[in-house]
Amino acid sequence: MERVLVTGAGGYIGTTLVPMLLAQGYQVRALDRFFFGAELLAPHARLELVKADSRRLEAHHFKGVDHVIDLVAISNDPSGELFQDATYAINHESRVHCARLAKMAGVKRYVLPSSCSLYGFQPEDVICAEDHATNPLTTYARANEMAEHGVLPLADERFCVVVLRQATVYGYSPRMRFDLAINGMTLGAWQTGTLPLMRDGTQWRPMVHVRDTAAAQIFMLEAPAASINGQIFNVGSDANNYQLGPLAERIAAAVPRDVAVEWYGAADHRSYRVAFAKIEKLGWHAQRVAEDGVAEIVAKLVDGSLEKSTKTITLDWYQELIKWQRIIHEVELDGTIFDLPDHRSKAASG
Ligand SMILES: NC(=O)c1ccc[n+]([C@@H]2O[C@H](COP(=O)([O-])OP(=O)(O)OC[C@H]3O[C@@H](n4cnc5c(N)ncnc54)[C@H](O)[C@@H]3O)[C@@H](O)[C@H]2O)c1
Repeated sequence: MERVLVTGAGGYIGTTLVPMLLAQGYQVRALDRFFFGAELLAPHARLELVKADSRRLEAHHFKGVDHVIDLVAISNDPSGELFQDATYAINHESRVHCARLAKMAGVKRYVLPSSCSLYGFQPEDVICAEDHATNPLTTYARANEMAEHGVLPLADERFCVVVLRQATVYGYSPRMRFDLAINGMTLGAWQTGTLPLMRDGTQWRPMVHVRDTAAAQIFMLEAPAASINGQIFNVGSDANNYQLGPLAERIAAAVPRDVAVEWYGAADHRSYRVAFAKIEKLGWHAQRVAEDGVAEIVAKLVDGSLEKSTKTITLDWYQELIKWQRIIHEVELDGTIFDLPDHRSKAASG
């Protein structure tokens, strides 16, 4: 039975990926700081939770590990800009460190889930294949590119390294993110009947369902090494290359209430399309489109098992954690709020 070390396992993609790996018979070592809570991963006989910081990975974390899926990251542009040093340290340095340790430990495969945001924005007529020049415009995108450059040269005949440039992800996951385009539009439409959309709606964005991108990561553990080693693959599909205007109409139509699209902002000319032929040639295909994600999110909102909270907006949650750390640091005494350690009995016994 093969063991997979998943870093960032408590995140949006991780909490979907881990149960899929378990269902396919893998043993999983799920490593995370668990900023969003470890309870999002249900206990399982083949699941081991490791609470650790990816910047402090050590050889023992790789003991008995066959494959690594290195999801860990500060995972979006606004958080990357606010926490730049941490973003470079986690998204770039810790992942290169992870790949090096994995190689030294005899791990067979290392998968780096990167991002299509590396392509930045491109002229109208360009469709980016993997060999297209990158144009990383943010700290988050630059850190991902540096990670790619750090891990790919480690590939050799015994250590298979694969980079997956994922489109923007959508759909329900236990660690829910409403700061992702389709998820956020779905929430807005369902909650208020108004779907905010940036002008002029002709911008192209590639998307991929969370279970599809997780499936692509598992696919890379099983594909013949010779056809993937040392290579980059875009993850998404033509059917999920959306223009935002028509996408908003489709989301509005899939939400069970009257929804009006509300335009805002000046015309946004940032637009990019991505080619997915390379991964499809290997035999991996996205199974879902936007409406599948909208339907499952709406079903969870309707039955009350999902709601918007600070935790579902990555940047807000990290800011909340920092705010509370400061407050608690100021009021706590001897590591507690109300309970005081009994100094008298200690002094008496000493
Ligand atoms: N969600 C998307 O649309 C998308 C698109 C393209 C690429 N990606 C990439 O996929 C990966 C996962 O994204 P996600 O949406 O699941 O993000 P997420 O923010 O939901 O998950 C990241 C996880 O990493 C953990 N983490 C952060 N810093 C850590 C540290 N120093 N040590 C240990 N754990 C730490 C967090 O607790 C969290 O559980 C990221 O690398 C992201 O850049 C995501």
